[in-house]
Amino acid sequence: MFMLGIDLSCNELTRGIPRPMGNLIMLISLNLSHNNLVGPIPLEFSNLKQIESLDLSYNNLNGKIHPKLVDIVTLSVFTVAHDNLSGKTPGYILQFGTFDNGSYEGNLLLCGRPLSKVCNEIEP
Ligand SMILES: *[C@@H]1O[C@H](CO)[C@@H](O)[C@H](O)[C@H]1NC(C)=O
Ligand SMILES: *[C@@H]1O[C@H](CO)[C@@H](O)[C@H](O)[C@H]1NC(C)=O
Repeated sequence: MFMLGIDLSCNELTRGIPRPMGNLIMLISLNLSHNNLVGPIPLEFSNLKQIESLDLSYNNLNGKIHPKLVDIVTLSVFTVAHDNLSGKTPGYILQFGTFDNGSYEGNLLLCGRPLSKVCNEIEP
């Protein structure tokens, strides 16, 4: 079987993550860390059914993390640390129950387990 790893870390990439990246279903690892990416994590990433390592850290990604991301049960490495994400973490279940706060640290507006910051259920 064909397996693919993409490492575009430290490339001064700007703009959003191209949504079609979520169609690269043969992806085993993706490293987009240390760029200047903005915008949300594409919902399409939940289609990556073989991915084992997803590193989106040290960008400026913003918006909420879609709870459907927990559908990726093949992940053993996941980090969105030092971005600008907000709202709840995707859920502390399945593989995502194995990631500690280091996966999410450095996002001031993010809350929920495994972070110690509790989400305020009442949205303003
Ligand atoms: C991604 O790339 C960065 C910079 O090259 C590196 O420090 C980091 O360990 C990589 N992430 C993973 C999960 O291998
Ligand atoms: C972080 O995201 C918020 C929206 O959630 C936005 O208002 C703010 O400008 C962003 N900060 C940076 C440094 O881009």
